[in-house]
Parts: sequence; C-alpha cells; structure tokens
Amino acid sequence: MPSTPLVVLNAPLDMHLHLRDGEMLQNVINGSTQTFSGAIIMPNLVPPVSSKEEVIAYKERISLAQGDKKFTSYMTLFFKPSYDKAFLSALRDEITAIKLYPAGITTNSEGGVSGFDVEELRPALDAMSELNIPLCVHGETNGFVMDREAEFVSIYEKLATAFPKLKIIMEHITTKESVAALEKHENLYATITVHHLFITLDDVAGGMLQPHLFCKPIAKRPEDRDALLKVALEAHSKVMFGSDSAPHPQHAKENCGCAAGVFTSPIALQLLTELFEKHDALENLQAFVSGNAQNIYGVQPLAKTVTLEKKPFKVPANYNGVVPMYANEEIAYSIKEVKNG
Ligand code: NCD
Ligand code: ZN
Repeated sequence: MPSTPLVVLNAPLDMHLHLRDGEMLQNVINGSTQTFSGAIIMPNLVPPVSSKEEVIAYKERISLAQGDKKFTSYMTLFFKPSYDKAFLSALRDEITAIKLYPAGITTNSEGGVSGFDVEELRPALDAMSELNIPLCVHGETNGFVMDREAEFVSIYEKLATAFPKLKIIMEHITTKESVAALEKHENLYATITVHHLFITLDDVAGGMLQPHLFCKPIAKRPEDRDALLKVALEAHSKVMFGSDSAPHPQHAKENCGCAAGVFTSPIALQLLTELFEKHDALENLQAFVSGNAQNIYGVQPLAKTVTLEKKPFKVPANYNGVVPMYANEEIAYSIKEVKNG
C-alpha cells in the first residue's frame, strides 16, 4: 500500500488572530496553541487594549488560558492618534505591532480613526517609524460594501508615501487592488486569511445565506480571489498568513443581525495544506505560514513541528460551542502529530 503523503510545517505563525477574552478565550485558545507557534493578537476587546497596563494584563490572561502549551502571543495595541513617542517608548517592549481601525468599521472598532489626515496622524506614526513598530491596518472605507477595500487603497498609498520608514501591513486583503498596491510601495505588506483563499461572495450569499462565512472584509469576486491565490501560492515575500479567525458565540452568528467573523484557527493549516497541494505549490507553504512573517516582523518563533497527513478530517459541528468554517464537512488533511521543541 502506498504510504499517506505527509507535510511537515515548522513553527507556523498566525499573523492576525482574535483570541477574545474571558469565557470565549478559554473556548478558542486551544485551536491556536495546538498547531501554531505564535500569533499576532488583535486588541479589539471591549474596551480596546490601549495602554501598557492593558497589554500586560491581557497577555497574562492569555498566558493563564494557554496553560503549559508552547505559544507566543505577539501583542498589539489599539491605535489612537494621541499616542506620542514617550508613551510608545515606554511600552515598546510589550508589543509587536499597533493595529489601526477606521472608526466603527468592524467589531469593537468604535474608538478607531475617523478621517485620515496625515498631519493629525504624524506625531504617532513618526514615533512608530522611529521605534520600528509596524502598523497593522484594517483597510476599509465606509463606502459600498464591495468597494470599501479598493477605496481604501489610496489611503494606504498616502500613508506609505508620507511615512516611508513605517512598515504598514494591509490586513486580511481581499482584492486585486490591494495586491497591486503591494508592488508599488516598498513599505506595504499584507496578511491573507485562509477563508479568502477558498471563498467568494457567492459562497457567502449566492445560495442560502451562510452566516459562518460572513466577515469583514466580505469575500469578493473570483478575480480578486485569483489575485490573492497567486501571491499566496508563490509565497510572495511581502505576504504572510493571518487567519483573522474571529470567533463569536453561535447565537450571535445565527441571528438576524449576524456578527462578522469566521472561526478558522483549528482547521487553518489543514485547509492551507489542501489548497497548496491542489495547486502544486506545497514547497511554498512553509514561507507563507512562517518564513515570510519571520522576515517581515523580525520574530523568531518557538520551535514546533506540525505533521499533516492526507487523510479526510470531518470538521466538528463546533469547538466548545463556537461554529467553525466548514462545520460538519470533510476536508482533505488531518493533523497527524505536533512536536514542541
Ligand atoms: C473581526 C472580529 O470579529 O473581531 N471580524 C471580522 O469579520 N473579521 C474584526 C476584524 O478583523 O474585522
Ligand atoms: Zn481581524
């Protein structure tokens, strides 16, 4: 009998993750710590993580929830234009990046930025450039839902030009316009989720409405997905994997007024392996799930070796009550073994 093909990944990193807090943190933490060496932790709690004390306290709560699992939480701060160099210098060692949300654009982003006036943002962004703190951005305007990200590209370009030493990470990109912007500015980078590599708007709303595939930014057109696939599959050096796994309670998803967010962390590596194999690009998966992030962020992840095998895996109906993408469906790869160290 031919042996089952195995795929080995070293130190996978998730460069955009919502771990939440309290009971939800307990419910979802294992989905990340089991297979990832570390993750960039989003700060959109209520209230958002916006002081040194809050960063330290949140990291401690995550650490308690993870127990003895080997996993690094790369913490972020919720961007406010009022941050100055003294404030940021004092907490530099506690964070890996700062996350900017346009006000009210997604879950818990009410305290974000309105208007993108370069001079208003200059003190904070100059300080971040000097302290070498990357800026992660949720890039959507409040325009028509399918155009929000493409409309935001001019803001990305304005920031990239005004702050050439600032590393700007276009988070969870979904459009060909964002992919094109990567090539135009040296200091623009991007994360790509697994769900945006699999689905288009058709999967969300083309048949019966699928609340568990609804997220911000919403999945776009096939040609946008193709553009994302191209740079992901070739592991373009400016893109990295960031799941944007964003759990919500089942009642908040299966509700009229569905919360935005797709929960993928426990199945992300299996799906990526399936995708890269299908496109004959497995040799680039390591760079996409770890190497590029290490280069872009300058992080050195904890050793963790994840072995996947080509054996069907039935995605559970829920993980501690949180419904994942592809619940109850079969995917092609399973986790065979995880070795720490
Ligand atoms: C995220 C969440 O729920 O926190 N939701 C989402 O649809 N992706 C926030 C975000 O990253 O936009
Ligand atoms: Zn997110």
